[in-house]
Amino acid sequence: MSQRTEVARHWEANAETWTRHARAGYDVYRDALNTPAFLAMLPPIRGLVGLDVACGEGSNTRNLAKLGAKMQAIDIAPTFIRHAEAEEAARPLGITYRVGDGMDLPYDASSFDFATSFMALMDMPDQDKALGEIARVLKPGGFLQFSILHPCFVPPYRKTLREPDGTVRAIEVGRYFDAVDGEVERWRFSNAPAEERESVEPFAVPRFHRTLSQWVAFICGAGLAIEALGEPCADPAVAEAWPTVADTRVAPIFLHFRVRKPIP
Ligand SMILES: C[S@@+](CC[C@H](N)C(=O)[O-])C[C@H]1O[C@@H](n2cnc3c(N)ncnc32)[C@H](O)[C@@H]1O
Repeated sequence: MSQRTEVARHWEANAETWTRHARAGYDVYRDALNTPAFLAMLPPIRGLVGLDVACGEGSNTRNLAKLGAKMQAIDIAPTFIRHAEAEEAARPLGITYRVGDGMDLPYDASSFDFATSFMALMDMPDQDKALGEIARVLKPGGFLQFSILHPCFVPPYRKTLREPDGTVRAIEVGRYFDAVDGEVERWRFSNAPAEERESVEPFAVPRFHRTLSQWVAFICGAGLAIEALGEPCADPAVAEAWPTVADTRVAPIFLHFRVRKPIP
């Protein structure tokens, strides 16, 4: 089985529980920290035509549509797209969804003013291809903003070190330079209630870790220019309200890039 098929199979298997748990509010890192920071870094998009790559059940695509963009979105897992379309049918925002591969986008060149990808490019085997495809479908002058697991602080080995009272003292990391190509990580949203967590299979997420310098090489190789970086850090009020995300005050978990396709 090809790596692409294997990745698609895992995400399709994750999609039903992921949708239910994300919509129940158990993806606390996304809702309390990562998405608000991403939207704060986003340039104005009202009236622009946008593509959300690897949209999942569509929560972040809907956030972009609510900011006034005309959104299209794509994901490899049909179950995610089915749930996203059902939400669009129930509460229309003018979003068009389709099933497809971020490394082989079914859109014409220069179709979009901007593109986004939330927490997905590190899940694709060929990030250089995905970035090349996104660059192809962007209009000259258009931008891509994407979030990934921070390659420096969430390499394949990461351990949170705590004081006796439970507060985070430090993050231990390792295996930064390991070539990780499809190693499957199994986990559940830690904020799901224990009974719910125990009643479902863990998510199986194939991981394609790349170093920071490899990410920069992929971006430059796709002909895109870096214009902003973000490393979300929970402010004290957010960390108090959502203790799960307090570790981001010690070291980041997420890395945000905004990159632009030059005008020739
Ligand atoms: C961590 S989830 C993030 C979902 C969504 N962007 C969000 O923020 O809620 C990663 C997503 O990437 C999708 N995905 C993985 N590989 C893909 C590929 N090659 N093409 C398109 N989508 C892909 C998965 O199906 C999944 O929806």
